[in-house]
Amino acid sequence: MTLPLEPIPSGSLPLAVRAPGKCILFGEHSVVLGGPEVVAAIDLFVQVGIRPRPAGPGPVPETNPYVREALARWWRDGTPLDLAVVSRVPKAAGLGSSAALCAGLVAGLGAAQGGLTRAELAARAFAVERGAQGVGSPGDTAASVAGGLVALNVDAGEELWSVAHGEQRWTVRRVPDPGWSWVVAHSGIPHDTASTVRAVGRRLAAPDGPALLERFRRVALDGLAAVGKEDPEATGRLLDENQRLLREVGVSHPKLEALLEAVRPAVYGAKLTGAGAGGSIVALPRPGRELEAQRRLARAGGQASVVRVETRGVCLVDRPTTVERAGSLPGDDPDDGAVR
Ligand code: PMV
Repeated sequence: MTLPLEPIPSGSLPLAVRAPGKCILFGEHSVVLGGPEVVAAIDLFVQVGIRPRPAGPGPVPETNPYVREALARWWRDGTPLDLAVVSRVPKAAGLGSSAALCAGLVAGLGAAQGGLTRAELAARAFAVERGAQGVGSPGDTAASVAGGLVALNVDAGEELWSVAHGEQRWTVRRVPDPGWSWVVAHSGIPHDTASTVRAVGRRLAAPDGPALLERFRRVALDGLAAVGKEDPEATGRLLDENQRLLREVGVSHPKLEALLEAVRPAVYGAKLTGAGAGGSIVALPRPGRELEAQRRLARAGGQASVVRVETRGVCLVDRPTTVERAGSLPGDDPDDGAVR
């Protein structure tokens, strides 16, 4: 079912926003160069609370690069703010914590300045993520803003919006959700999106790059068709095939391979999700075997969750859970390479 994409309404401070994380089913990395990608918003959330800073000691300079970028670009008023962020999305794990932070914060700032459309929000959130990270595609922020399943750079399906950076433009379309459960597991190894994307870019610039890109394109389009036909067997096979390609371009990791091996008996297929070189895997469990898949991953050392596709995307929340200024946001740690 396709839900209408409601704009982010006007709201007054204090307010709070909830933004879903994401997992990429097909096409990460090649999407950066304009290839097709299929991404799901998942029911792990980041919540951002925004209020005017009470009078008192002078403002603390903001050090988080995503927050700095968002405030510099999209907080025209300039009034000092207090932000409170709570995240259920593990950081630097390929599950979209920085995209959800960008989408949630930019939605909140937009709401406080009169509201904005989802297309505007998608463009702004991507500008913030790309500005802070220096590389990347709008796939992650698009999934968090739109909710549900989305596909980038494909021909069929309802077009939601397109997003540009310089000469490059990515179209974002709605994909009907077959309603399956998925299992994600974080390897515990933080990854560096920017350097991994750059390394794959170099790999794809080699003489066999176009052939590799064509294989990425094929597997993502076949994966999209398998999801469209609600065919879990074919979807699983294509997840495995996409993993072989990701391995070939050098972004798998022994810990990811161990998780994939451990979960295999309980699933139709599985792959790393996100930039790789650490981070997480996503698996499509066989019916009734979600908890077995989760247990197998936990035994192999993964932090595993059964997730479903989150249909709503970013939204303002009426009664936020009590939030504190998070000590740890995506981009806060020197070893969180997402921002280098
Ligand atoms: O690892 P993440 O969650 O930052 O996802 C990166 C996905 C890439 O395709 C590798 C980069 C991008 O921006 O699309």
